[in-house]
Amino acid sequence: MLAVTVTIDMPEQTPPPLRKLLSQLRSRRWFADTGMRGFAHRQRMQQMGLRRQDVMERPIIGIINTWSDLSPCHAHLRERAEAVKRGVLMAGGFPMELPAMSLGEVMVKPTTMLYRNFLAMEVEELLRSHPIDGVVLLAGCDKTTPGTLMGAISMGIPLLFCAAGPMLNDRLVKDGVTRQIGAGTHTRMFWDDYQAGAIDEAQWVALEARMTRSPGTCNTMGTASTMTSLVEALGLALPGSTSIPAMDAAHPRMATDCGERIVGMVWEDLTPQRLLTRGAFLNAAALQMALGGSTNAAVHLIAMARRAGVAFALNDLDAMGRRVPVLANLFPSGAGLMEDFHFAGGVPAMMRRIEAALSLGELTVTGRTLGENIASAEVLDDEVIRPLHRPVSANGALAVLRGNLAPEGAVMKASAADPRFFRHRGRALVFDSPGEMNLACADPALDVDENTVLVLRNGGPVGAPGMPEWGNLPIPKKLLARGVRDMVRVSDARMSGTHYGTCILHVSPESAVGGPLALVRSGDEIALDLEARSLTLCVSDDELDRRRAAWQPPARPVTRGYTRLHQEHVTQAHEGCDLDFLQGPATTPEPFIY
Ligand code: FES
Repeated sequence: MLAVTVTIDMPEQTPPPLRKLLSQLRSRRWFADTGMRGFAHRQRMQQMGLRRQDVMERPIIGIINTWSDLSPCHAHLRERAEAVKRGVLMAGGFPMELPAMSLGEVMVKPTTMLYRNFLAMEVEELLRSHPIDGVVLLAGCDKTTPGTLMGAISMGIPLLFCAAGPMLNDRLVKDGVTRQIGAGTHTRMFWDDYQAGAIDEAQWVALEARMTRSPGTCNTMGTASTMTSLVEALGLALPGSTSIPAMDAAHPRMATDCGERIVGMVWEDLTPQRLLTRGAFLNAAALQMALGGSTNAAVHLIAMARRAGVAFALNDLDAMGRRVPVLANLFPSGAGLMEDFHFAGGVPAMMRRIEAALSLGELTVTGRTLGENIASAEVLDDEVIRPLHRPVSANGALAVLRGNLAPEGAVMKASAADPRFFRHRGRALVFDSPGEMNLACADPALDVDENTVLVLRNGGPVGAPGMPEWGNLPIPKKLLARGVRDMVRVSDARMSGTHYGTCILHVSPESAVGGPLALVRSGDEIALDLEARSLTLCVSDDELDRRRAAWQPPARPVTRGYTRLHQEHVTQAHEGCDLDFLQGPATTPEPFIY
């Protein structure tokens, strides 16, 4: 293994042409007011022991912190906030830490996706309602990355993303063979082994205590690592920052760099609207494919693009999937973990490798272009970041399927699926809820074989609600015992980025709003053709019309609070699952200061 020294390549903090004046800072509206209100604002800061000049003569930098005791991936973020503050102070700003909803992926029920937009609203309103000139976002566990970014993009002040970083790796030595163990992916693998009797209870219990060894995000190329990497590609994080392991001493140093740099960004008025172009989103799509990233990125990238007012859709992802092969040899598509990726050079090295597919002129948080940021990057381990002529998978990380079963599209992670199923036709076995499905799949008498197409509906943004990660439908126990580990599975739900299998996800429109998935019956045939990008319910149009006329929407048991707001306003998967009134580049006016 080659050694790598991580340094965040910071630009000189020379005054750029667009330098803001102190009098133009947003926070001046609060603190420079000469009336009674300005007096009260300054007075209350001095109540906390701050000096008058701390808030009068410096940009105020917000630090949005998604730490909580129920978010293990973010357990270190209180310390990292202190590191960010050091950087802000050294650069002449003044830091103010603001807590935001933590959204620990595993703990939050029914699903963090229900609350991604809630977090986005919270971040936007926190920034709008307070005297903040620029913001560092401390996040990383799955939905916290798009959630904080969507809110900050809509607010439109300079932002810099500071990723929580991946957790430490685990390893398993069995029969003299050492295997790397990562969070998420291996949980499902070992669960299947446990169900099939391949590992015993003592081994299962031992795994529980050791697979997640430290604070930090999941260490596979799951949703967390995919999204934080894509933030770098969008130009919203410092180059090389997002793969630094959470417990590496380089991580707090990187956090300090973030604090230092955001002050410069405020003076340069480097807002997300100046960085987030269509080219930036296409760069993120290219990286998504090279990484073999999570299918969840499809939903989050579209939601972020719509917040920025950028035209970007599923077709852009499919086109990039045909162009850029999977080069990252990382779980769940490959064999390594995030630390391997980091030592191989991380995102800058991967982007250098695929630079022919990139728009290198896009401006980034460094104040320089993407091309300038990655000019000196190099791949340090060709087994982890494979050369273009030796990809992990030439099939692309993400394909968009369409047909009478998914008129607005469905997604499939081809690189994590068994190629046997790339062209497949099988009998549907339909479930209306995960409870019904789990019960049936445990039944040894279930009428199912390895060619059956398992279907789960009512898993979409409105129906579930919140589009949970139910899409990795369990293999029926009787097939597990026969060694079956993959089948074709279709749903309007999402799948964890750490999971694998031939899972067709995000079927849109979803069943709960009358999408064709609602019309499938057990025994119908479903045909999948990856090359043709088609997903077909092999039932005549006349019969589908009859079923449609008889269809009744499912009941919505929750009638109050945020869930009701979500169900009434959430958009479909192909539109990013944002709330309809939050999409688009329009901003809410600045608050009246009284
Ligand atoms: Fe937090 Fe996977 S549970 S990143």
